[in-house]
Amino acid sequence: MSVSPIPAVVLAAGEGRRLAPLTHRRPKPMLPVANRPLLEYVVSALVEAGVDRIVLVVGHRQERIRTHFRDGDDWDVRIEYVEQSTRLGTAHAVAQVEPVVDGPFLVLNGDRIVDPALIADVRDRLLESGSPVVSVTPSKQPTRYGVVELDDGRVVSIQEKPHDVGDSALINAGVYGFGGDVFEAIRETPQEGGELAITTTLASYADADGISAVEYRGTWLDVTHLWDLLYVTEATIDGGRTAETASVHDRASVAADVVLGENVRVDANATVGGATALGANVTIGANAVVSNAVVLPDAVIEPGAVVNEAIVGESAHVGANATIAGGETSVIVDDTVHEGVDFGGVIGDTARLGGGVTVVPGAIVGDGATVEDGASVAGRLETDAVVRRG
Ligand code: G1P
Repeated sequence: MSVSPIPAVVLAAGEGRRLAPLTHRRPKPMLPVANRPLLEYVVSALVEAGVDRIVLVVGHRQERIRTHFRDGDDWDVRIEYVEQSTRLGTAHAVAQVEPVVDGPFLVLNGDRIVDPALIADVRDRLLESGSPVVSVTPSKQPTRYGVVELDDGRVVSIQEKPHDVGDSALINAGVYGFGGDVFEAIRETPQEGGELAITTTLASYADADGISAVEYRGTWLDVTHLWDLLYVTEATIDGGRTAETASVHDRASVAADVVLGENVRVDANATVGGATALGANVTIGANAVVSNAVVLPDAVIEPGAVVNEAIVGESAHVGANATIAGGETSVIVDDTVHEGVDFGGVIGDTARLGGGVTVVPGAIVGDGATVEDGASVAGRLETDAVVRRG
């Protein structure tokens, strides 16, 4: 593959409000998927596609990103940072890189997992056509994204998060190629709802029949809602991995498709079922049952607890014999009711569930919350909330 020197700009400044409480303490691109931050998948795919310079646009909780990636040396790539101090949309984020980018460049979302081949295809098309390039992929949930209509490989329209498009359509896959003229186009882009969206900028090119589309059918994984983290983890776990420093008791049972981070400890007669990722220093107590779960670093699951279809935050504590049973439920996020989701719930960072606590499916326990012994929790608990048995 001939390696082109064009840089890639990765948008990683967003807050990820729909993923609260996990995004209170980390930006969305730093959510762990099979124990690696989402953004690391993007950086690795760029490196694999031959990109040698990455500009990360950072904002919310940016220190987590900067201290993880530093200058990119560990990934064999040059990483620089540009701050988007007010979050005014994706086109505004792209505009921030004007002083450091010259000529054609790629733009990617920092929180979507894609194959390196897509990045290489967008780059090749950009260099060949000289006009903006958008990647499109089929989706069964098109209303969550930008819906793109094509005619003979050219983009004729992009509709951002339309209400009504049927249950399958081509969506904007979030990997773009631009020339230096995009900055002028952004200056002319009208704001919508207080934001400058890159899709609005693109619409002006589409009107002039000026965007070419790269069609893509490979891996495309996105975490929009908390429960997406469970299936995206499942999809990336492959055959599983166990860090050398992890220790599993002889009488514990761990499924094959499980990732165990550094210093994880699984005690006697505990069961770790499939599609589970346990972060560094996690302890699973004796007789506990954990399956289809994402457990962040330093969390403790006490003896006899059950954690199913759930996310347990960093340094959180699930008390002895507490139960997060999992199962189908409805979850309300931003006034929208999501029905039929399989989701046991989330326990925020540093939250503590006492012994024998019951977590009703879909409960969202805020970071730092405390649920006392024997209590039951449902719905959404705010940061630092305290629930007593009542
Ligand atoms: C953005 C774009 C949308 C696109 C999506 C794909 O949405 O606005 O058109 O389909 O990325 O990654 P957002 O992630 O900002 O909701």
